[in-house]
Amino acid sequence: MRSHPTACWEGWVPAGVPAEPQPGSQAATPAAPSCPCLLLTFALIADLNFFNQAGSAWENTDAVVADALRAAGAPSPTKIIDVASGPGEPALTMAKSYPEASVLVTDAAEAMLSLADVRIAEQGVGERVTTCVMDLNDFSPVSDAHKPADLVTAQFALMFTEDLPGSLEEINGVLCEGGILVGTVWEDFFLLPLIRDTMTAVLGSAPPPPPINPLSLKDVDLVDGALADAGFTTFGRHNETATIDINLGPYDSDDTIKCTLIPVTPSLAELQEKGEHGDDVFGTAMEAMKTAIVEHGMVSPAGDVVLTTSTYRYFVARK
Ligand SMILES: C[S@@+](CC[C@H](N)C(=O)[O-])C[C@H]1O[C@@H](n2cnc3c(N)ncnc32)[C@H](O)[C@@H]1O
Repeated sequence: MRSHPTACWEGWVPAGVPAEPQPGSQAATPAAPSCPCLLLTFALIADLNFFNQAGSAWENTDAVVADALRAAGAPSPTKIIDVASGPGEPALTMAKSYPEASVLVTDAAEAMLSLADVRIAEQGVGERVTTCVMDLNDFSPVSDAHKPADLVTAQFALMFTEDLPGSLEEINGVLCEGGILVGTVWEDFFLLPLIRDTMTAVLGSAPPPPPINPLSLKDVDLVDGALADAGFTTFGRHNETATIDINLGPYDSDDTIKCTLIPVTPSLAELQEKGEHGDDVFGTAMEAMKTAIVEHGMVSPAGDVVLTTSTYRYFVARK
């Protein structure tokens, strides 16, 4: 098993702040921000508008996939597998675009698939869109009915495996000859500097790098090399980038600030429990986050918190 580098801090460290963890900070290590998808979950619960905004990325992917399939001379896939689908995307977008296709929605987290099940039922596509708990490094749950697949999608997904070559090998294994792989990785995710500043204020020193880093596949050569090693040929809109602005709601609403803290909420609870960082760790974090949001210029003229121009990059490959 070969791990890809995870100590990519560019999106986390604001200009002028040293990337190295300060001595002593390890003792009070907060868990790193886990998955941006938690924001999606919160958005569902809090009825924020996040889903529609993430939707622009899924629509973009729809267009990139359509171009890739056309270029490959296979415009109508019949078997599609989406990996790390979270609440069912871009699987459900694909299901709409390819009404003849069976679509398998997969994720390691059952809670995510429960959200996907609700959306599948709402959209009335349960007959041909099914969910399956599956890890990015073990595709054995894929039944014969779903393979070989013509198309695998992996949006904001592959940075969550510690074994990228192994995961690409699994994807290669379920694709038909000439089958297409389309996905995205983050190049910048602007929540990260805000969280880093907040945790620095809470801890009194810079937090250590996150063990799972959403930016770990930022490097083009690393991804291109891994695709080539796994037997893929890149083509079409490969390495095209796109941006997304994420409006999390009014700056003066506690719910908005809590939303930005979701990735570190378990760590904050742990720090509160330990009692080494003041009586009100969450209150300190809320204030620090509000300051960080202003300092990073992320309050829109309308008074909303807008995580501006987070950038993602496509990979488009053929087996
Ligand atoms: C950022 S979300 C992306 C969701 C969706 N593809 C989208 O575009 O909105 C990442 C997802 O990866 C899932 N995930 C994390 N590690 C995983 C693993 N090892 N295997 C499968 N899924 C994983 C998480 O549960 C989460 O739903």
